Amino acid sequence: MNTVNRRFSVAPMMDWTDHHCRYFLRLISKRALLYTEMVTTGAILYGDSARFLRHDQSEHPVALQLGGSNPVDLAACTKMAAAAGFDEVNLNVGCPSDRVQNNMIGACLMAHPQLVADCVKQMQDGVDIPVTVKHRIGINGRDSYAELCDFVGKVRDAGCTSFTVHARIAILEGLSPKENRDIPPLRYDIAAQLKDDFPDLEIILNGGIKTLEQCAEQLHTFDGVMIGREAYHNPWLLSEVDHQLFGDALREITRTEILEQLRPYLLAHIAQGGKATHITRHILGLAQGFPGARRFRQLLSADIYKTDEPMRIYDQAVAGLEGR
Ligand SMILES: Cc1cc2nc3c(=O)[nH]c(=O)nc-3n(C[C@H](O)[C@H](O)[C@H](O)COP(=O)(O)O)c2cc1C
Repeated sequence: MNTVNRRFSVAPMMDWTDHHCRYFLRLISKRALLYTEMVTTGAILYGDSARFLRHDQSEHPVALQLGGSNPVDLAACTKMAAAAGFDEVNLNVGCPSDRVQNNMIGACLMAHPQLVADCVKQMQDGVDIPVTVKHRIGINGRDSYAELCDFVGKVRDAGCTSFTVHARIAILEGLSPKENRDIPPLRYDIAAQLKDDFPDLEIILNGGIKTLEQCAEQLHTFDGVMIGREAYHNPWLLSEVDHQLFGDALREITRTEILEQLRPYLLAHIAQGGKATHITRHILGLAQGFPGARRFRQLLSADIYKTDEPMRIYDQAVAGLEGR
């Protein structure tokens, strides 16, 4: 079994952590574990599997997140992911959207621990990459700590050793997915209790983390931390992850250098008929907190859509960056 270091990871985010975004984030941190957007088993088995499994060699370590609840389908997709070179497969038991609930995908599966256990067991059989689970601390109607332990215990008994805990419940009726990421209160104490009660399991904390100081603090309790929105909106946060959280030597790299490194990738994408904005939409947050952030964002979120010379706008945005 290969080993994956989950001390710091960037969360799976639909429409956000696509392969372009991961390529860009990897330029900033060499050590962060990067998760794909959730891909359903149906999309892989009956859709354009090459597209959904696509990733660049430089993205490693990279984990594919799957959505599904049919053990046979999930096992087939896990084998395909392993063959495609992913370092890990993660099962989504945290997404609360209505659309996925109707297909028995995501957080609703927390009400079916034995089914999740069967899924994980079959996924793990026959592959030598780890299968992990990302879940909530409960769902409405099933949010007691005893039920959470029942869930984690059953999935552990099926062979899963790494759990990423989004430390709030999901409310399956009445809240949008976005509201479900903000309204139910964060309960790090419950995630910490889980680590106490299952000390042999790897427990990764997710939800509401915004700074590397918070990460370092939570790493006293948890085996790893996962950041979603803040990593996307403020990707420069990743520039000190390798040094501060993994103990690597400080890499004196600037945002301008990162964007120079991204330039050939952008050119290649355009040469293949792609739009520059497929890539540049993921870098808008790179100037956050620096002088000139508004201008940077304006060029890359508005002007670049109106031009047939996207590289000129890109270069203008890069040239306007101030500070490290
Ligand atoms: C735009 C967006 C899309 C998301 N898509 C997924 C997804 O595909 N799979 C998943 O498990 N969680 C998804 N999430 C939830 C995140 O992985 C994470 O659990 C959540 O945002 C809490 O972490 P944060 O407070 O650090 O953002 C998504 C979040 C956002 C903002």
